[in-house]
Formats: sequence, C-alpha cells, structure tokens
Amino acid sequence: MYLLQGVVLSLLAATSAASPVQDVFPRQSGAGYSLKQPPLTTPWTDKVGTDPWPEYPRPQLQRPHWQNLNGVWGYQNASGLNAVQSPPFGQQLGQEVLVPSCLESGLSGIQGSYTLYSWFSNSFKVPSDWKNQKVLLNFDAVDYEATVFVNGKKAGFHRGGYFRFTVDVTQYVKIGQENELLVFVHDPTDDGDFVIPIGKQTLHPSHIFYTPCSGIWQSAWLEAAPQNHITQLDLAANMDGQVNVTVHTSAMNVTSNVLVTVHDNGKVLKTHSGPSNRPFQFNVESPELWSPDSPKLYNVTVKLGNDKVQSYTGFRTIEKGKVNGVVRPMLNGEFVFMFGTLDQGFWPDGIYTPPTKEAMIYDLKVLKSLGFNMVRKHIKVETELFYQACDEIGLLVIQDMPSLRPSQSKTNPADCSSSPILPNADQQIEFDRQLDLLINQFKSFPSIATWVIYNEGWGQITDYHPEIELTERVKQLDPTRLVDSVTGWYDHGAGDFSDNHHYANPQCGTPFYSINSSPYDETRIGFQGEFGGVGNNVSIEHLWNVQEAINTINQTYEIDETIDAWNYRSHMLLGELEDQVKRFACSGGVWTQTTDVEGEVNGLITYDRRLKRVDEDQWKSDIQALYDAAAARSNATTSTL
Ligand SMILES: *[C@@H]1O[C@H](CO)[C@@H](O)[C@H](O)[C@H]1NC(C)=O
Ligand SMILES: *[C@@H]1O[C@H](CO)[C@@H](O)[C@H](O)[C@H]1NC(C)=O
Ligand SMILES: *[C@@H]1O[C@H](CO)[C@@H](O)[C@H](O)[C@H]1NC(C)=O
Ligand SMILES: *[C@@H]1O[C@H](CO)[C@@H](O)[C@H](O)[C@H]1NC(C)=O
Ligand SMILES: *[C@@H]1O[C@H](CO)[C@@H](O)[C@H](O)[C@H]1NC(C)=O
Ligand SMILES: *[C@@H]1O[C@H](CO)[C@@H](O)[C@H](O)[C@H]1NC(C)=O
Ligand SMILES: *[C@@H]1O[C@H](CO)[C@@H](O)[C@H](O)[C@H]1NC(C)=O
Repeated sequence: MYLLQGVVLSLLAATSAASPVQDVFPRQSGAGYSLKQPPLTTPWTDKVGTDPWPEYPRPQLQRPHWQNLNGVWGYQNASGLNAVQSPPFGQQLGQEVLVPSCLESGLSGIQGSYTLYSWFSNSFKVPSDWKNQKVLLNFDAVDYEATVFVNGKKAGFHRGGYFRFTVDVTQYVKIGQENELLVFVHDPTDDGDFVIPIGKQTLHPSHIFYTPCSGIWQSAWLEAAPQNHITQLDLAANMDGQVNVTVHTSAMNVTSNVLVTVHDNGKVLKTHSGPSNRPFQFNVESPELWSPDSPKLYNVTVKLGNDKVQSYTGFRTIEKGKVNGVVRPMLNGEFVFMFGTLDQGFWPDGIYTPPTKEAMIYDLKVLKSLGFNMVRKHIKVETELFYQACDEIGLLVIQDMPSLRPSQSKTNPADCSSSPILPNADQQIEFDRQLDLLINQFKSFPSIATWVIYNEGWGQITDYHPEIELTERVKQLDPTRLVDSVTGWYDHGAGDFSDNHHYANPQCGTPFYSINSSPYDETRIGFQGEFGGVGNNVSIEHLWNVQEAINTINQTYEIDETIDAWNYRSHMLLGELEDQVKRFACSGGVWTQTTDVEGEVNGLITYDRRLKRVDEDQWKSDIQALYDAAAARSNATTSTL
C-alpha cells in the first residue's frame, strides 16, 4: 500500500507547478524533457516516460513513509570544480534531465559527453505528518562525487559512484513547504590522472570499454524515520538455522533493545530480542533452505523503539569443501557447480541504468530459463532490486568490485607504447574504502556467493600484492562468503579460487594453461572466470550504431558467420568444459556474455535485447550436462575445509 503512496507523491512532486504555500522555488515544469534518440533502443525505451523506477528501492530495510524523487529535474553543465563554490540557488537550470539516468544516455534527455561537472536541481515538499521525525534524503548511486545542498545550505557530500548514501536533511527542510535541492556532481571517469573505480566506463570508448555514466543514475528518494532509527541491518542465516544480526542505529553509541521477528507467509516462526549496534544470534528450527533450485526466502521485521522495518533473508551456507579429494565450492553442504554468464548490465538506451525493472529482470529470466544457476556481475554494482530479483529467481551472484583503470592504459604518442596507470597510495586507500562500502551495503543478500576483488590485473599493483591484505579485509567484513581475489591474470595465492580466463576455449582446473594465466592450484577452487566470447555480427538494426564501435567489431575474440555456426561453436566449447569437469578439477565457469555491449557482438542476446542467438534446447542440454558431470564427481566423501 505504501508503495502506491510513494508513486502518488512522486507524481505530485514531478508535475505540480503551482503550490499553495508561499515559499515557492522555480521548479522544473517537465516540459523541457524529451528522450534523445539513442544509437540503439530496447523494447522498453518508450515505456520509461517521466516517472522512471517507481519501485521502493531498499528491499532489505523498508519503511512505510517515503517519497520518490525520480522524475524530471533541472540540469546544467558546469565549467569545473570551482563551480561548487557558487551554487545556482533560486535559479531555473537551463536544461531538463530524467533522474535516474546517465547523462550520456538517450533516456537522460541530454545524451552528452564529457559531462565531468554538472548541476542537478529539484524541489520537494515534506508532508506535514513527517513533523518530529528525521527527514532522510537517499541517493542510491551518483557517479562519482556528489555535493548536496538543501535550501541554500550544504547538507552532504559523497564519493563513490556505485553506492547508496543518506543525508539527514532534517535541520535544513521546512515542513509542508517547498524545499530547494541542488546537487553538484563531479565525475572524472578516466580523465587525466584520475584512478577511481570505474569498471568498463571510459571517456574514450573502444572495443571492450564503453560509454561512461555520469550523474544520478539510481533512485533519489526521501523518507521519514524516528529520531533514533535503524541505519543498516546486517542479516546472515545459515543452513543450520542460525541467524546472525547486527542492527546499526543512528544513536550508534547507545545500546537499545531491538526485536527481530522471522515470518513465513504471515506466520511468526521466531521472535528474538537483542542489543542494537552489536552482533547477536538466534536459531530458527529446521528452516527450508535457499538454493537456486528452491529460492526460499523468509520475511524479517526488526523493531527499535518506534522504528519498524521490513526485511528478508534466506538460509544458506556457502563455503569451501573437499569432495572426492578436490576442493569445491559448497552450497548447503554440497558441491555446487556454479555456472553463469559475464553480466555487464549495460543498456543502449540507459547505459548503466536499465530502462525499467522489467527490462533488468528480463535478462535474469533468460539466464534462468537456459539453466544457468549463477550470474557474474562484472565490475559494476546494480540497484538492490537486482540482487532481490536474484534472491527470488534463484541465481547465485559472483559480485565484482568495480575495477580501477585497466593497467595498460597510458599510450605514449611517440612510439605508441602503453604503460600502466596504477593507483597511488591515496587512490589505493580510496579503492579499499569503497570495497568496504560494497561489502557492507550488499552483504545481506543471500544470492551473493562470492566477492571478486580484482579483474585481469586492472588497477592491481603487482609488486606488493594488495589482494593479499584485501582478501583478509573482505573475510573480516563478511566471513559468510568465498573470495575470488583475482579473476584472471596475476595470481599470488590469495583467496579461495584458482581462477583462469581463457578465450575462446576453457582451461578450467586443468594441467595445461596459457599466457596470462597461472597453473591450477589444487589447494583452491579450480574455476573458469571467463571463456567463450564467440561473436556473431548482426544487421545494423541490432547494432550500437556508432561508427567507432562498428569499426571494432572485428576485434571480437572470434566471429562466427552465422547463428548456426555460433551455436555449433558454443556447443563445442561447452562440451570442452564438460570434459574438463569430468577429467580435471573444474568447479564452475563464466560464459562471456549475457548480451552484446556496444561494439562487442558476443552475447547470448543482442544489445537491444530483441534477438536471442541461443538455440535454447541445445544450450539447456549442454548446461545440464555440466551439472550432471559435476554431480558424478561428488558421489563420495565430503569434508569441509
Ligand atoms: C560540458 O562542458 C564541457 C566543458 O566545459 C564540454 O566539453 C561538454 O561538451 C559539455 N557537455 C554538455 C552536455 O553540455
Ligand atoms: C554467526 O557468527 C558466528 C561468530 O562470528 C559465526 O561462527 C557463524 O558462522 C555466523 N553464522 C552466520 C549464519 O553467519
Ligand atoms: C561514539 O563513541 C566514539 C568513541 O567511542 C566517539 O569517537 C564518537 O564521537 C561517539 N559518537 C557519538 C555520536 O557520540
Ligand atoms: C513477505 O512479505 C511480502 C509483502 O509483505 C509478501 O508478499 C510475501 O508473501 C511474504 N513472504 C513470506 C515468505 O512470508
Ligand atoms: C578492423 O576494422 C578496422 C576498420 O574497419 C580496420 O582499420 C582494422 O585494420 C581492422 N582490424 C583487423 C584486425 O582486421
Ligand atoms: C558488422 O556488421 C555491420 C553492419 O552490417 C557492418 O557495417 C560491419 O562492417 C560488420 N563488421 C564485421 C567485422 O563484420
Ligand atoms: C562415483 O563416481 C565414479 C565416477 O566418477 C564412479 O566410478 C563410482 O562408481 C561412483 N561411486 C558411487 C558410490 O556411486
């Protein structure tokens, strides 16, 4: 019910130009926004409208009173970092933009490039029944730095393009009146000497690096909360029915009593009380376990004084074990062969922002229907609704930390040689801090099974091996998951995986390997972090219609002339992996990739999501054969490590 309320409020906020109260700021009429035709559309491009992402955005800490600020905002390109010193208070900005979106996307209505500095404006009304409550302003992701002003005062600052931040704006807002919101955003991406977490974004897109995303690219919203309220809820539940809880509160040095209730379809299974701001545990008798085959979830409510939030969890245990003498990933005490795709989460109309929730889930449903039990979220972080969908559909997630610049990225014009741009000491500290943000925000989603720290050496300093201490750091923050410290390239023995990348054919847990990969290490899980990547060009109506991108199609690892040839090659490569599962120590793999992205034409689906290359029956049976081969290797003694 309150979801509806949020939608209604957001519609009011976006459309009502006149206001009965005196203090009215110039607000955006919405009339200046229109979709810019992107180089390629999806079936959802035209369905976005001016009320994007109406869903409640925080599934594991839901409060009843909220207001969605998504919609049409004011926008202005700024000249540089100094602009933040003179905010355009009380002015109507020159252009209009859709929030959330990437400024580089058609959906934004801007479709700009080099949008390094920008202003966003909006206004909002705080309902009078929020009086005496805290008013919290949430941004689910702003790439890269955001400075937030409310009614002419600086209210907050955040750095890190993939994570939620909450600004307590109580002292700046006027209840029942219009409040002016201005946000200054600085997003350098890979400009100059900046070395920041960017994943596949670049100001100079080519081949496997793509259009960047700047600005407010996930939901912006407002909520009311009691004075002392829950700020973060850590929930972990395992196959023995044990539940670990930490209820972080705004009064972080005060210990109050919290009440946790676990429900199943309206029935109370367990109520337990414990202290705030400290971990505590309790047990639920014989819970139904969560797995990709049976993604059972339980609702959880947590009460702290007047603050009552809704959440959920799933009971499952992920660990390393030895089965028939081979080190394996274990889910609920059994070897789970984790098989998924490289899932980059790029969209031709929205770049980093899926056009709609339905569009986002479409990709996941295609994977699930083919029999994949996992998805590798590749050097990008999604809205929490993505992880909730994985929890509900039953897809394990391997979650990558967004990487720093790829290491070979500075080209010397004199001789065209490349040299690495690696983080300096401060940039490394900032990377480490943002890795903490990733783990802390997402560690309560049951589907996430593994954290990845580095991909193919990008931003990975190789002379002192930072992944060794970072692996310890991740394990301390989250002891309930596996860590794949380096997926591909420079392995120095850290973490739970011996992970190889090889194209097109796999070399998974095998006694043979190639340049850039390490020999299989039998003390860890043998894994094929990437393989496949076979391409098939398509007609122009399915292609990212940008000439520079089309010119790089010929760099795809392998081009198969027809879709039949592409399915034949896929069948051969999946068969080769199956053979490695039977003979060697292969515990899972990642097929490149879910969809085409810009000039890369190697998806199961094209970039516009309008054409599936997969021969569905063939893929289903090839994927099932992998699980069968794995099951045949796990019929004897099992022990956990
Ligand atoms: C923003 O300004 C920068 C430099 O001032 C310019 O390069 C860029 O094209 C502008 N972008 C837009 C979308 O106006
Ligand atoms: C809960 O915490 C204890 C102690 O830190 C740990 O041994 C146990 O595995 C944890 N259980 C879950 C479900 O995370
Ligand atoms: C909480 O305690 C820590 C040290 O124990 C102190 O540094 C901090 O200022 C306190 N915070 C508040 C809000 O009182
Ligand atoms: C959890 O709560 C939601 C909405 O309140 C409800 O639709 C769902 O059925 C509940 N699930 C369980 C397992 O109780
Ligand atoms: C790929 O195509 C581009 C432009 O179409 C061309 O300049 C380049 O030489 C080609 N590269 C290869 C490896 O064929
Ligand atoms: C791929 O198809 C596009 C559109 O038909 C064409 O322009 C391009 O040259 C093709 N590239 C390759 C490598 O086949
Ligand atoms: C276990 O699997 C192996 C093949 O990997 C087979 O030879 C053996 O008979 C199986 N053992 C049992 C008890 O099923």
